[in-house]
Parts: sequence; structure tokens; C-alpha cells
Amino acid sequence: METARIPIVLDVDTGVDDACALLLAATHPGLDLRAVSCVGGNAPVDDVVRNTLIALEAAGRRDVPVSRGAERPLLETPVDARHVHGTDGMGELGWPAAPTRVDPRHAVELLRDVCRSAAHDGMPLTLVPLAPMTNIALLLRTYPEVAQGISRIVFMGGGADVGNATASAEFNVFHDPEAAAVVLDAPAELGIDVTMYGLDVFYAPVVTRAEAAGLVALGGRGAAELGGRLIEFQCDRFDRDSATIGDAGAVCAVIDPTLLSTRPLPIRVELGGTWSRGRTIVDRRDWSGDLAHDPHGLAPTRVEVALGVDGPRCAGLWREALLAVGRA
Ligand code: BDR
Ligand code: CA
Repeated sequence: METARIPIVLDVDTGVDDACALLLAATHPGLDLRAVSCVGGNAPVDDVVRNTLIALEAAGRRDVPVSRGAERPLLETPVDARHVHGTDGMGELGWPAAPTRVDPRHAVELLRDVCRSAAHDGMPLTLVPLAPMTNIALLLRTYPEVAQGISRIVFMGGGADVGNATASAEFNVFHDPEAAAVVLDAPAELGIDVTMYGLDVFYAPVVTRAEAAGLVALGGRGAAELGGRLIEFQCDRFDRDSATIGDAGAVCAVIDPTLLSTRPLPIRVELGGTWSRGRTIVDRRDWSGDLAHDPHGLAPTRVEVALGVDGPRCAGLWREALLAVGRA
């Protein structure tokens, strides 16, 4: 018997590794990519839209609606990451623009519509934010009833142990901490299960330069070639022989949850702090004991925090999927 494809929606700030995630989500036979919403993050939102349309064009998916969302975080001043992702936000590959156009709906309205129709069909979808969560926070605050159309949220962001944007905080959460706090309240407030694919696992699934060359060799400006070139860009930028598939790991974990080891843990986002704003504070104490002396108490929300990933199997899933479409 054929297993049903998992309905999925991505929220992105494309972004080299967001593009890697889009290529997988758009082509994997186990997924049904319903829509993509864009937000300012790694690059300004108009660049993000252009890059997203390019990735979907390479994947042969002109049918997927792409919408433009928030230009800036709820409170913070936007700070992009073009020093990591290149001046165009997607690896400076000189790839031609896609002929497709952006959906006329704002990202929040597109997300609302796909969630409502998923609820109507009785097939709730998996929402995968891979960027600052401004669009998602606006969606949940404006249309909380969409929770009925969301089976789970698997987001890339945060970290139990490490930061990258600062010593404390991961980029997506640091960029819009208030938005992340709204989304992390979703298990308690809206009954949505949330999984955090954070920096504790983000760097482990890697593709080597030689493996990337194998993808590039398939050519034709398709998903395999673009994926390979994005890995090569990162290898060059960081002077390494391999590079992480980054955000794409979160999509791999939707396809095969056994790739991750997770624990349901109380979590809060630091919204104050001098050096710690945007940190995800993951409570790993033995909180079965007496917490009467902790003035903060237990966080009201618990999230499945990814603490381990099978890196080789995860990167293998991504690579094999692109090789398969490249050879088809
Ligand atoms: C995250 O920030 C961005 O640079 C990447 O696309 C990823 O989503 C890693 O901190
Ligand atoms: Ca991203």
C-alpha cells in the first residue's frame, strides 16, 4: 500500500541552506510541498523571494505558490547575513532569474489559506520555519484557528548549547526573538507540537566537495546541479572540504524522524539580557524535584529539542534525493 505524502509548507529566508531545503522539499516523493512563504532574514525579503523562485524553478516546481512576507522583525532592526550567504543571499552563482511570479497574497494570508484548506480536508500539514519566525508569529496571533490545520511545527533555530549570531543566540531567533517566543508558546497555547532543529544538530549533516561535484555533473540547471553548486559555494567561502546542508536537515527530519534524537524539554526565549537576548533557554534540570526555590518556575511550554542527529544518514538522504531527480 502506498504511504500518503506528508503535506508540508516552508517559511524561508533563502539563503544558501534554505535553497538546499527547498530543493529537497520540492522533489522528495514522500513530501507534498503546498506553499512557500518568504521573510527578510539572511537577505532582504525581495532577494529572498527571487532566490526562492529560482530554487523552485530548478526543482521543476512552478506550481508551488510563493508569497512575500515580513520585511523586518517585530521589534528588532533587521541585520542580514550576506557575509555568509553572498551578496545576492544565495551563493553568487549567477543563476538566471525564474520566469515565475510571486503569489499576490501576503505570506500570512497564503499560510492562513493553506492551513485552512488542510484543516478542511482533515489532513493537517507540517509547518517548517527555516528563518526568523516573524511570519509565523503574525499568522498565529492573527488567525489562531489555523492551529487546526497544523499537525506540527519543525523549525530551524535556537540551540540548547551554542549560538552563532552571538555567543548566546542562534541567528533566526536572535533576528526576531519576540516572534520566536510566540511560536514557542504554541504547544501550551494552541496545542501544536513543536520540534526544535537547532544548532546542536545543524552542522552535523555534511556533504563533501567531491559529492557536490557529483551533483553538479548532472547539470541541466536542475535541482542536483543547484544543490551541488550551493555546497561548493560554502566549501569555498569557509575554505573546507565539506559543508553542512543546514536548514535542509530539518526537512530530512520531517521525512525520517528517526534521524533525530529529541527530548521534550521546557524552553523559553530570552527577551531581555545584555549579552543573551535571543537565547533559547532549554531547561535540562531534573525538574521532577522541588523547584519551589526557582523564582522563574517551570516554562509553560515544552518543545521536542533535537539533541542528536545521524549526520551521515541525514546528508545521505538529501544527496540521494537530488541524485535521483538529477538522473530521472
Ligand atoms: C540559520 O540562519 C541562517 O543563516 C540559515 O539559513 C539558518 O536558517 C542558522 O543560524
Ligand atoms: Ca534560513
